[in-house]
Amino acid sequence: MIFRAIRHLSYRYEQSLEKIRSRYYVHFIRLYDGTVGDNLVIRRGAKILITKGGKVSIGNNFVLGEGADLFVGKDGKVKIEDGIFIGKNSTVVANGNLTIGAGTQIAHLVTIIDSDHKFSDPKRPLVEQGGHIGHITIGKDVWIGANSVVLKNIDIGDHAVVGASSVVTKSVPTRSVVAGNPAKKIK
Ligand SMILES: CC(C)(COP(=O)(O)OP(=O)(O)OC[C@H]1O[C@@H](n2cnc3c(N)ncnc32)[C@H](O)[C@@H]1OP(=O)(O)O)[C@@H](O)C(=O)NCCC(=O)NCCS
Repeated sequence: MIFRAIRHLSYRYEQSLEKIRSRYYVHFIRLYDGTVGDNLVIRRGAKILITKGGKVSIGNNFVLGEGADLFVGKDGKVKIEDGIFIGKNSTVVANGNLTIGAGTQIAHLVTIIDSDHKFSDPKRPLVEQGGHIGHITIGKDVWIGANSVVLKNIDIGDHAVVGASSVVTKSVPTRSVVAGNPAKKIK
C-alpha cells in the first residue's frame, strides 16, 4: 500500500517537473526567435541547445525522450513538423539544414548528425581542420529503428523504415525498408 502511494506520488512529481521543464523550453526556443506549437514534451534529462544564430521551428505534439539531445549550431536550421517522437538517449545534431516530416518516429539511441570533421591533412590536429556541414531531410511518417545512425547529405523518403542498428550513408527511397551497416534496401 505504502509503496503504491510512494510510486503514485513520485509519478505525479515527475509529471509536474515535466510540465515545468517543457514550459521552460517553450520560452527558451522563443528567446532564440524559434517557433513551437502545442504540447511540447521534454522528458527527464532531455535537452535542446541552440547556439546564437541557429533557427528552430517545432510543430505540435513534439516529444523529446528521456536523456535525448537536440543541438542546433549557429548556422543550423531545424524544422520539426507535427507529431514527432524522438526516443530515449537519442542525439540530433544540426549544424546545417535539418527537416523531420510529420508523424516520424525515431526510436531510442538514434544519432542523427549532419556534420563531419575534416581530416585530410594528417600533419594538422583534427580540431584545427574545421568541418563539413551537410543537410538531412527525413520525410513524413518515417520510422527509424533503435541504435541507428543517420549521416549528412541524406534524404529519407516519406513512409520509409530504417531497421535497428543501421548506418544510413545514402539516401533512402520513399516507402522502402533499409537495414544494416551500411544500410541497404531489404524491402
Ligand atoms: C527493419 C524491420 C522493421 C524489418 O522487419 P521485417 O519486415 O519483419 O523484416 P524481416 O524480419 O522479414 O527481414 C528481412 C531481411 O532483412 C534482414 N533484417 C531485418 N532487420 C534488419 C536489421 N535491423 N539489420 C540488418 N538486417 C535486418 C533480415 O535478417 C532478413 O534477411 P534475410 O532475408 O537474409 O533473412 C525490423 O527488422 C527492425 O529492424 N525493426 C526495428 C525495431 C526497433 O528498433 N524498434 C524500436 C521501437 S520504436
